[in-house]
Amino acid sequence: MAVMVLVVVVVVLFVLCICSALLRWNELKYRKKGLPPGTMGWPIFGETTEFLKQGPNFMKNQRARYGSFFKSHILGCPTIVSMDPELNRYILMNEAKGLVPGYPQSMLDIMGKCNIAAVHGSTHKYMRGSLLALVSPTLIRSQLLPKIDQFMRAHLSGWDNQVINIQEKTKEMAFLSSLKQVASAECEFIAPVLQPEFFKLVLGTLSLPIDLPGTNYRSGVQARKNIIRILSQLMEERKASKETHQDMLSGLMVSEENKYQLSDEEVIDQIITILYSGYETVSTTSMMAVKYLHDHPKVLQELREEHMAIRERKNPEDPIDFNDLKSMRFTRAVIFETSRLATIVNGVLRKTTEDMELNGFVIPKGWRIYVYTREINYDPFLYPEPLTFNPWRWLVCDLFFLLFLLSFSMDLYVWFKFDQTGFDCKLQDKRLESHNYFFIFGGGTRLCPGKELGIAEISAFLHYFVTRYRWEEVGGDKLMKFPRVEAPNGLHIRVSSY
Ligand code: HEM
Repeated sequence: MAVMVLVVVVVVLFVLCICSALLRWNELKYRKKGLPPGTMGWPIFGETTEFLKQGPNFMKNQRARYGSFFKSHILGCPTIVSMDPELNRYILMNEAKGLVPGYPQSMLDIMGKCNIAAVHGSTHKYMRGSLLALVSPTLIRSQLLPKIDQFMRAHLSGWDNQVINIQEKTKEMAFLSSLKQVASAECEFIAPVLQPEFFKLVLGTLSLPIDLPGTNYRSGVQARKNIIRILSQLMEERKASKETHQDMLSGLMVSEENKYQLSDEEVIDQIITILYSGYETVSTTSMMAVKYLHDHPKVLQELREEHMAIRERKNPEDPIDFNDLKSMRFTRAVIFETSRLATIVNGVLRKTTEDMELNGFVIPKGWRIYVYTREINYDPFLYPEPLTFNPWRWLVCDLFFLLFLLSFSMDLYVWFKFDQTGFDCKLQDKRLESHNYFFIFGGGTRLCPGKELGIAEISAFLHYFVTRYRWEEVGGDKLMKFPRVEAPNGLHIRVSSY
């Protein structure tokens, strides 16, 4: 018996020694001069398990120990985590200094080498320009919003007296609404074949790049091939038919009037980028808005009043137009507050193209920088009572703050409006939306080009949802907040007509 105990003790000690040696070896391996403080965890795996398990608490604990700029090894790469708002801003503004996007290999493989996150410098400028030309306010007004309206009206019909999984519905909604803008005429025919492939592609981008049968990565790569085949065929048909179209695909395909002349490969990657970028962001924000509205009846009441007032000005079949969209001030506030409180985007990834000095440290070439913006969303100075869902905070009328902002010549606009009760100074400042640390849509040269389009889609969704329906949660559904916001088994609601 004593021998057995001795053997167990020796084995345990041996394992502990090996573990400690491995940890130590990994620390030494990364102990280059000038690196920020932090720990690197295990060889190969680093601190990924702790990061995924503890989520935001891992970041907070490391920050408490090492400050807002620390090193780690997460998701397969040596990584610098930056939680400092000022520094985050600097990183996002200075791509030209060698701080380029640093998205995982699986994402780059599956999204294509011409996709916007894979290109830098002048190519990025060109690809971004061609995308911005598709989502300008003029096009939102004349082409995109009418299509969004038509789509939402149909997508949100027949939900009464049903239990629906709002997560599934908002995912379908985000994908199909984008597809309608991409290929309006063919949308109905290609959606049934494209949608399952697209969902596989999304899963593949979020997986480890292990190319083995049965892995999400392998299935994502295959889905990309299938999507390319479908889109190439569509483009060939359009070239052959000479029919004119008014949608994103025709805006990208080579024509004399087109300022941006993209190759077929670039057009396809651009289309995949558009479908992908607006998918999870728009669907998750919409789902979480439904969740928060359910939990906050006063907010729902004010939102519904805003949308009912729009409907009262119209016939039942009239679509919402650009002026209606602009008038949805409270809706916009609900969308921002939802994105903030749920933190739909935790941060963005960059990598260094050469050894560089940052914040007094030397970051080696090829290291990833996690511009972690989550904590800013809960900063009590920017957002008093940060854990409260309070859309009104985005509409604050604060003349003192106006003067303060003017003195720093920040972007804002003021509306003075007279109403029946006399002079009513309605100040729509963009105080929170345009402060320096508003990173919900990223920042700098990669600021989300689809911001207004995304807001238009979510606003139209909310318009038809709250004017047509009331709903209650079935209950019992789990909601995960990290690393992605999702309901693993769906979010089920019982819907009835309003
Ligand atoms: C609520 C909705 C949305 C949110 C919260 C959101 C958020 C973001 C964020 C945080 C970034 C910065 C990524 C980075 O710096 O690496 C970004 C970039 C981007 N977004 Fe969005 N997005 C939304 C909707 C959309 C939509 C509808 C589109 C469709 C056109 C879109 C297209 C893009 C593209 C193409 C980029 C990359 C820009 C570049 O690299 O220059 N987004 N988005």
